[in-house]
Amino acid sequence: RYYATILGIETSCDDTGCAIVNGHGQILGEALHSQTLVHLRNGGINPIIARDLHRDSIDSIVGEALAKSQCDISNIDGVAVTVKPGLLASLQIGVKYAKYFSRKYKKPIIPIHHMEAHALVARMYEDIQFPFLVLLISGGHCLLAVAKDVEDFLLLGQSLDDAPGEAFDKVARRMKLRNIPEYSHLAGGRAIELAAKKAKDTHSFQLPPPLVRSRDCNFSFSGLKASIGRTIQNLEARHGVVGAQVIPQVHELCASFQLAVTEHLMHRTERAMEFCIKKELIPPDRKNLVISGGVACNDFIFESLKALGNKTQFKVYRPPPPVCTDNGIMIAWNGVEKLRKGLEFTPNFDLKDIEPQC
Ligand code: KG4
Ligand code: ZN
Repeated sequence: RYYATILGIETSCDDTGCAIVNGHGQILGEALHSQTLVHLRNGGINPIIARDLHRDSIDSIVGEALAKSQCDISNIDGVAVTVKPGLLASLQIGVKYAKYFSRKYKKPIIPIHHMEAHALVARMYEDIQFPFLVLLISGGHCLLAVAKDVEDFLLLGQSLDDAPGEAFDKVARRMKLRNIPEYSHLAGGRAIELAAKKAKDTHSFQLPPPLVRSRDCNFSFSGLKASIGRTIQNLEARHGVVGAQVIPQVHELCASFQLAVTEHLMHRTERAMEFCIKKELIPPDRKNLVISGGVACNDFIFESLKALGNKTQFKVYRPPPPVCTDNGIMIAWNGVEKLRKGLEFTPNFDLKDIEPQC
């Protein structure tokens, strides 16, 4: 049981992912199809297009992962699949495929919570004992939680409006970063991170820090987004920027926005650290913070959180960046962890048990 080998399937948003992972945390095979380029061209994710693209690639992605693994299907102990949260039509493609695979090869299905998978995959790379603090920052989510066990999470706070990745994506679109060839193929957050590196001054534009007076661990990004939107509008008017043209201060704007988002993440995370120690949710001799989700790929944010960790004596972990974004590895690993805990399989998992984003 301990050394179980699990095939994981992820289709909750805009990445079709599959991986085969064993109980040693070895990735036997992996395949991923990203829809980023299509959605960039359309100015955002269209759920119907996302579903159709998942449907087009799921069979070949699972086939590719299996072929790379050179694993005999008889050696696979179960199929882990994301069942929530996510886009309903996209989730259904993965779950239907998992059901088909389960029937055909007589494998049990392990339903997976996408955010729990993001949180726990760091344990595949490092020996991080429960409980630990986790900050999940992606295109759909922003939350702070205490991971107490494989299926036991205490939510400390979440975004009251946009997720940080969503804010990065919208601001990148508003700044027309796609019209600059070196960023045209990149997700908004990645484009902003690279453009920010070219800024002459990081503090050129002051943005109002969100939720300064609220004494909880929640987040808000819509104020920052609106504020930078107004700044962009004023600059466009002042410089006569029209159509596909980009404002001359684009790099400084990116740096200022990235800094404001980072400082907000740091403030809320520091609050959560203090709360966890005060309430003894985290042992004082084992203070660990895991960050994951697509926005955690951002090195400026990661380094800033590491600096916060130095100050508060928290050790800060992040999975390798390609594993921070959506993928099949984290789903398969979560299946391994559930099996290892002896958590029961759901033999007759039903499509109606899928839960869309709430
Ligand atoms: O976790 P993920 O792949 O999908 C969701 O579950 O949302 O995250 C995608 C998000 C996008 O909004 C993208 O702009 C953001 O992660 N992202 C980044 C970076 N790379 C991807 N944000 C900031 N900096 C990056 N380097
Ligand atoms: Zn995700």
